[in-house]
Amino acid sequence: MWSRSSKSLLALSFAGLALSTPILPRYTNSTSSGVVCNGTFSRISAQTWVDGMNPGWNLGNTLDGIPDEGDWGNPPVVTSTFDDVKQAGFKGIRLPVTWAYHFTTEAPDYDVDPAWLQRVSDVVDMVTERDMYVLVNVHHDSWVWADVTKAGANYTQIEEKFYRLWYQIGTKLACKSSLLAYEPINEPPGTTAAHAAELKKLEDLFLKAITDAGGFNPDRVVTLNGPQENSDLTSQYFVRPTNITNPWAIQYHYYSPYPFIFSAWGSTIWGSEADKAALEADIANIRKNFTDVPLIIGEWAASPVATETAARWRYFDFFVRTAAKYNTTTVLWDNGADFLDRANHVWRDQTAIDIYMSAVAGQANALPDSTTDPSAATQFTSADLFVRVGQNVSSQTLPYILPSNISLISISGADGTALTKGSDYSVSGDDITFSASFLRTYFTSSTSPGSVTNLTLDFSSGADLTLNLVLWDTPVLSSTSSSAAAANGSSISIPIQWKGINKPATVKAVTANGTYLVDDFTSYYGPLQNARTTYNSQWNWDTDNVIITAAAVSAVQALGQDVIFTFEFYPRVPGNSVSYTLTV
Ligand SMILES: *[C@@H]1O[C@H](CO)[C@@H](O)[C@H](O)[C@H]1NC(C)=O
Ligand SMILES: *[C@@H]1O[C@H](CO)[C@@H](O)[C@H](O)[C@H]1NC(C)=O
Ligand SMILES: *[C@@H]1O[C@H](CO)[C@@H](O)[C@H](O)[C@H]1NC(C)=O
Ligand SMILES: *[C@@H]1O[C@H](CO)[C@@H](O)[C@H](O)[C@H]1NC(C)=O
Ligand SMILES: *[C@@H]1O[C@H](CO)[C@@H](O)[C@H](O)[C@H]1NC(C)=O
Ligand SMILES: *[C@@H]1O[C@H](CO)[C@@H](O)[C@H](O)[C@H]1NC(C)=O
Ligand SMILES: *[C@@H]1O[C@H](CO)[C@@H](O)[C@H](O)[C@H]1NC(C)=O
Ligand SMILES: *[C@@H]1O[C@H](CO)[C@@H](O)[C@H](O)[C@H]1NC(C)=O
Ligand SMILES: *[C@@H]1O[C@H](CO)[C@@H](O)[C@H](O)[C@H]1NC(C)=O
Ligand SMILES: *[C@@H]1O[C@H](CO)[C@@H](O)[C@H](O)[C@H]1NC(C)=O
Ligand SMILES: *[C@@H]1O[C@H](CO)[C@@H](O)[C@H](O)[C@H]1NC(C)=O
Repeated sequence: MWSRSSKSLLALSFAGLALSTPILPRYTNSTSSGVVCNGTFSRISAQTWVDGMNPGWNLGNTLDGIPDEGDWGNPPVVTSTFDDVKQAGFKGIRLPVTWAYHFTTEAPDYDVDPAWLQRVSDVVDMVTERDMYVLVNVHHDSWVWADVTKAGANYTQIEEKFYRLWYQIGTKLACKSSLLAYEPINEPPGTTAAHAAELKKLEDLFLKAITDAGGFNPDRVVTLNGPQENSDLTSQYFVRPTNITNPWAIQYHYYSPYPFIFSAWGSTIWGSEADKAALEADIANIRKNFTDVPLIIGEWAASPVATETAARWRYFDFFVRTAAKYNTTTVLWDNGADFLDRANHVWRDQTAIDIYMSAVAGQANALPDSTTDPSAATQFTSADLFVRVGQNVSSQTLPYILPSNISLISISGADGTALTKGSDYSVSGDDITFSASFLRTYFTSSTSPGSVTNLTLDFSSGADLTLNLVLWDTPVLSSTSSSAAAANGSSISIPIQWKGINKPATVKAVTANGTYLVDDFTSYYGPLQNARTTYNSQWNWDTDNVIITAAAVSAVQALGQDVIFTFEFYPRVPGNSVSYTLTV
């Protein structure tokens, strides 16, 4: 069980697992060339390293920030962040690092600022001192200067710089323990056989550079990858290395289905049998190609920022379980705004993390039921209990998905007090019914719209689930129209008075005669998706505003017709939306 109070016990049991992973009984000392390390190195297999990383967490948008650590919304990393991550049950850390803005000289030396090398080395130590596995890479350099698809790309120059960079990283990190592994380059652009061939050349230069750098590098685990770290392109183009001393695994990234993960086109639903089959086919296909190679999904996520809660929890459960079924380690992407609130040491969606840990451990989870039919006209969820302002509070029944051997043990309020079965709630099969009298203690005539409280549902196995009691009404915008020209090329922030869940579900954008602002193909989608646009591309929000992006404003001007933006909210039911007209 994954109750809040047993967190420290859980962390201990996970640490125990990590330490008991087998270490191969082969020790190697420094090579004759390059760095000579003091001490010894325990060579481990790539499978041991990949297993040791499971589950892993990405320190996203930090050392990979452009131009520097601290420039992408997260302050420089502090050691307590790794304590928080370890405490949550994670075993390994992927450290994305962008080097592009830390070169102090150009050709032929391409010297990297020693202070930056030292910083990366220090952060690696923060992780390994906690007995966690760690992966260091070359991150956004992939598109800043090492893009082999760019017109006029000078391959000779990219190769020289890439070798020099890895030689210096390899020299600096040469004597780290076998907890540290390297990844040559993050998501390198590439679609063709010619691109893949050049990326293979870079991979060989990476291997040569770390070997030349010496130390323990020739025995260190490396993760190799195909173009874009995409599973299909990896299956298509990956060439097994020959003449390699390093134990190696294959890394790929998984953000699919795109519209659900990135909140595009009103796709707030996930979890049908077809959705699951598509996900499993992706993970099975690459495994079929590499039956004997350790596989690691170095990035994946379904962020609370962009996804509906029940759909997200169901995705977490199925994705992690399916990866495990195909012997594949998973490393969660966290940009700093997604999961861990680093400043406050709390997980923004603790339930998702609990579901993750439980699924990795092979324990079944109870899950909230939710709409999975993409042709549905409304969406229900058992992750939230919605009452509309002014509605007579009556009993509500929420369906759950309970594996056959899992049952509900208890439900508690935010203060830990147990609800009384019978009077507060009742259970019938997989349904939980909350009584009107119980709900009326929370939803009173003086309750303000918003999240009223969270209940905790404790099941006989797997993660606890939370249930968010929400009083909602249609939000109110401070104005209902403006002119695109007046925006003068900028985005438009419209102050909003939230009244329930403080984020849009999606945004529809059509002209008065029904022309779609963008993405006409959404006319083939279900009623919750027609004419809906994409988070970040056309719309956004912050604490106090909904936002029409500059790109959407330009699209309106290009179309030359007034466009009605309909902001839609959770619950996705008729009446929970507001419109804003952008005139030309
Ligand atoms: C590695 O070095 C240690 C001492 O530094 C020595 O005892 C050991 O025999 C060496 N191992 C190999 C394989 O050379
Ligand atoms: C090995 O130890 C010696 C003596 O303490 C020291 O001078 C040297 O820098 C060390 N080498 C490395 C790679 O740490
Ligand atoms: C490409 O880079 C190499 C190595 O830095 C350099 O010698 C060569 O002149 C460059 N070629 C072009 C066309 O710039
Ligand atoms: C194998 O790699 C080593 C070290 O990089 C290199 O010296 C050697 O020439 C390579 N051999 C072949 C056959 O590629
Ligand atoms: C992966 O599988 C596809 C088709 O199943 C095949 O064309 C391709 O060569 C395989 N790639 C590797 C690296 O095995
Ligand atoms: C799967 O994992 C097990 C245990 O970690 C390992 O022994 C086995 O070789 C792996 N199989 C594949 C195909 O990676
Ligand atoms: C509210 O609902 C309850 C039953 O759930 C009913 O007894 C009561 O009359 C309703 N009150 C109003 C004002 O509709
Ligand atoms: C419940 O059943 C699943 C699937 O058969 C199994 O993996 C899990 O260990 C069982 N849990 C308990 C608590 O018995
Ligand atoms: C209930 O949980 C949600 C999701 O974590 C959170 O946004 C909300 O603030 C919580 N409600 C209360 C009253 O704490
Ligand atoms: C419009 O934007 C331009 C450049 O982006 C700026 O120079 C100008 O002052 C802006 N005009 C207004 C009215 O804000
Ligand atoms: C809407 O109006 C525009 C411009 O007046 C026109 O091009 C377009 O065909 C109309 N669309 C429909 C669906 O009537």
